[in-house]
Amino acid sequence: KNPVVAVVGATGAVGREMLDTLVRRNFPHSEVRALASSRSAGSKVEFGSKTLTVQELTEDSFVGVDLALFSAGGSTSEKFAPCAVKSGCVVVDNSSAWRMDPAVPLVVPEVNPDDLSWHKGIIANPNCSTIQMVVALKPIHDAARIKRVVVSTYQAVSGTGQKAIVELENQVRQLFNGQESTNSVYPHRIAFNCLPQIDVFLDNEYTKEEMKMVLETKKIMGDDSIRLTATTVRVPVFYGHSESVNIETEKKLTSKEARAILSQAPGVRVLDNPGEKIYPMPILAAGEDETFVGRIREDESIENGLNMFIVADNIRKGAALNAVQIAEVLLERGLLRIA
Ligand code: A2P
Repeated sequence: KNPVVAVVGATGAVGREMLDTLVRRNFPHSEVRALASSRSAGSKVEFGSKTLTVQELTEDSFVGVDLALFSAGGSTSEKFAPCAVKSGCVVVDNSSAWRMDPAVPLVVPEVNPDDLSWHKGIIANPNCSTIQMVVALKPIHDAARIKRVVVSTYQAVSGTGQKAIVELENQVRQLFNGQESTNSVYPHRIAFNCLPQIDVFLDNEYTKEEMKMVLETKKIMGDDSIRLTATTVRVPVFYGHSESVNIETEKKLTSKEARAILSQAPGVRVLDNPGEKIYPMPILAAGEDETFVGRIREDESIENGLNMFIVADNIRKGAALNAVQIAEVLLERGLLRIA
């Protein structure tokens, strides 16, 4: 019998994409339930040609459910993922609540699918910026061993959720109408601006988003020796995160070799023809599944270094698609059960 699937946070930016992705990839299911807060209970969400009535998330929501995809924020996951597991349901969680728990696999299917074998009910979906970066780093690491990474990001507002999409739209409208802009989601105006703050500041003066990239990369790549430093920036783009990535490797890779390796890598599309002005951009990656890599060139300031520009749809590969791909591997490998 095909699994009963629940999407938690089904009315949100990621939850809606999860439903679309299940349809688009023909994920086998006998039933799909849309769950959200009491605020949206009774409202409708689209599921292919059907509409689903949203139900309120409660501790009893997971009875008879085999697989739950969560994207309703960290506190919701902390509270309800264990309830789901108790009901025998396997959880793929998009929040940051469980990512660094040593008992929880943190998985990007192109990079570390085998980590799914030891799950105990919860599998964490990594941070959006981390996912697209490791898809490109893994084949480089396998070929030349990465010693150090310096990354700066240009992240879309959709990563913050539906409210942030509306905030950017409203500010653009306000400014074009000669009005003062108002903000409630971000600490400053995001329209026609860049914010070098994503999530909260930590004691070490980095933001939480920056440290997520550092810690999650080591866990997914299964290599604590990779040194990484990040600056994460919110930009006025609706869909698609961009990243400028500098990589220092143990072994020398020419840009040509790196391009050849990345062209063969799963989930990657190399878009790198400067002569024709072809390179990755959010407007190209939005609505696509692959991670786009371009501007591949040697870092002439060090012996073994590469620079590249990596762009992906943060709602797709950065969230919903990666979660559904995890579910596909679980199903294929008979891991949709709690050991
Ligand atoms: P709701 O629409 O009922 O508030 P986004 O990241 O786009 O803001 O979406 C967040 C998603 O998480 C929405 O579907 C939202 O539902 C859901 N959500 C937020 N808080 C809760 C909660 N306490 N219980 C269940 N769902 C929640």
